Order: sequence, then C-alpha cells, then structure tokens
Amino acid sequence: MNKSIPFLNLQAMHFDLADDLQAKFKTILQQGVFSGGKEHDLLQANMQAYLGLAYCMPCANGSDALEIALRALKIGPGDEVIVPAITCVASAEAVCLVGAKPVFCDCDEHGLMDLTVLPSLISPETKVIMPVHLYGMMVDMDRLMEIAASRQLWVVEDAAQSFGSVFQGKAAGSIGDIGCYSFYPTKNLGALGEAGMLATNNPELAEEIGQIINHGQRNKDEHVSVGRNSRMDSLQAGFLNVKLDYFPAWQAKRKELAKTYLLHLQHIDGLLVPNHILGTHHNAHLFVIRTNFRDELKLFLELNDIGTAIHYPLSLPEIPPYGAFGPLRKNAELLCKTILSLPLHPYLSEQEVQFISMKIAEFFKNRSANVRD
Ligand SMILES: Cc1ncc(COP(=O)(O)O)c(C=O)c1O
Repeated sequence: MNKSIPFLNLQAMHFDLADDLQAKFKTILQQGVFSGGKEHDLLQANMQAYLGLAYCMPCANGSDALEIALRALKIGPGDEVIVPAITCVASAEAVCLVGAKPVFCDCDEHGLMDLTVLPSLISPETKVIMPVHLYGMMVDMDRLMEIAASRQLWVVEDAAQSFGSVFQGKAAGSIGDIGCYSFYPTKNLGALGEAGMLATNNPELAEEIGQIINHGQRNKDEHVSVGRNSRMDSLQAGFLNVKLDYFPAWQAKRKELAKTYLLHLQHIDGLLVPNHILGTHHNAHLFVIRTNFRDELKLFLELNDIGTAIHYPLSLPEIPPYGAFGPLRKNAELLCKTILSLPLHPYLSEQEVQFISMKIAEFFKNRSANVRD
C-alpha cells in the first residue's frame, strides 16, 4: 500500500454525496428558510420514526443537548449528576454549566460506567445518572434503569456516539428520560457542521425542551421561561435528511470492516480487541483496541502512514477543571493509557483494513522477537 491511511476521511464521503447534497442546498436556497421550516420538520419526523420515540427535537449541537436536558429536569446548584470517568468533556461540562456537581463513576473494561460501582456513588444530592454509550457500545440499560428507578433518579443518556445502536430492540437514547445526540461531522451520522438533538417520550419534558431551545417561547412571542437559542440550521437538517438514506448501508460497511479487523487481530498476544462490536448494541463508531504498548504501536503505525486517535488520553478526574470534583478513578486512568482507536469508517476499504491489521501483527511479532533476543 503506497498511500497514507488517515484516521478519518470525510472528503471521500462528501465527494460521493456531492450531487445529493448540492441538490438539497439548492432546494433550501429556493425555499429561503434557513432556520426551522420543512427540513427541520422532516428531520423530526424521520428521527421519531427511526428511533421509535414520541418527541425528537433538533438543536445546535450535542453539548447543548446535554445542558438543555439538565435544565429541563431543573438540575442546578446543590445537585449531583453521576457521569462516567471516561467520556468527552462535554458530558461533565453540561453538569457544571447548570451549576451542579459531576460525580465520576469508574469504568468497566469497555470504558462504560461500571454498574457495580454506581450504587455506592448515589447520595441524597444525586438527581441524575448520565450513562454514556462510549465508542457506540450501549451500557446495560436494564440494570441501569433498575438502579435509577430504585432511587427515583432521572436518566439522561448521552447517546452522542451511539446513534444507530439498539439494546434489546430499543435505540440508544430512547430508554432513559431524555436521550441526547450529536451529529458532529465525525459521528456515524454527521452533519456538514454542528448539529445535535434531544429525544424523549415524556410530553412535559418535550414541551420544556422545545421552549428552552427557542428562547423560552411556548408560541411565537409568548415567552414563558428564560430559554436560549439552540435551534438547528435548516441546512444541517436538510443534509442530515439526505444522509439518513445512506445510513443503513454505512452501518453495514462499518460492521463488515470491524469483522475483518477482528478476524486478523483477535489472536494477537498482548492485544485486546472490542469483541462486542458486531452486536446490535454497538454501532461500530470507534474500533478501540487495548495494549500496554499503545504509545509505541501508535508511533509505529504513524511511521507507516496510518492515522490513529486516542479517545481519550485522560480520564475526566485527571483533567484540571474537573479534578476538583473528586478523586481519580483507577480503572479509567489505566484504560486511558492503553486505548487506541483504529481507522473505521464507511469509506475505508477491506484492503486498507487488512493492511492496517498486517502492520499491527508485524509490530507485535517484532516486539516478541526483540523480547526473546
Ligand atoms: C460522548 C459525547 N458527548 C457529547 C458530545 C458533544 O457533542 P457536540 O460535539 O455535538 O457538541 C460528544 C461529541 O463530540 C461526545 O462524544
């Protein structure tokens, strides 16, 4: 292989979709509606049907979705929200922005909130559990909902990475009280800019969320609370409507590629692979391997023109603004030192995955030869 393999390749996808996207752009230009409108309403209907939820409310991005969810639940100073120790900072950021305190739960071997630890973190101040379906793999929502119900806690699912994952017939984000999604361009379903969404089956929460997104308005010029502007652009809604048609085929391609990785990598000594990635409860957003030689492997792949990424280099309690909220979480800290995300997207080829796998096998072969010498 004589060309480099970047971690992501958003150009290839958009080159392929250019005609459809340009046609949508032209339609929206002709309609002259750039916020709300037909595309927004169509996205709402598409999402409700796809996720099996009564209310889907597009918004400006996934970070806003989390903050708006907490505001809709009236979470604020004095309240605690349990967040996993490994996640995008946005999850904990939202908690801080409403004035509440994030309490970090250690992770299991997949990087998900450890449900055996979770009950011990619940205090009289705890109001919400915020599971994050990290890398696209869903938390055991049966168990989590049981814990939440037994302590009468709200559940806000951070489904930013897990659009398309399904746990026992239920979509990620559709099981808790509110589901929050991100359509950031690198996600499995990505906009051509920033975009996000909140979803719920609860009509009162839906009304509250709809108002917060749009300046606290119940109807035009009828402001019933202090809201904000987190409306989604009509253009982004339109592009997402186009991309939704391609989504099932992209998901199938991700699974095929993940299967190829597993085939080649699962028996390598010193390397752990994401065994659950082919299940429906995983949308194959990220293919995250684990090894004690992570930094050396990353460098070796870089020297072979293969891009990788780390999600995430530090657990939240290790990041200065969040360290103040609680002690380090051991599993999370260790996991962050060993994880490496390999390229996985619908515009990657089988040959590229085989090449990456071959290079990884070569790395471990060289290592064990060096150890023996
Ligand atoms: C787990 C998680 N939560 C929240 C977010 C925030 O989404 P956005 O980037 O759309 O604000 C992201 C995405 O970046 C994420 O991965």
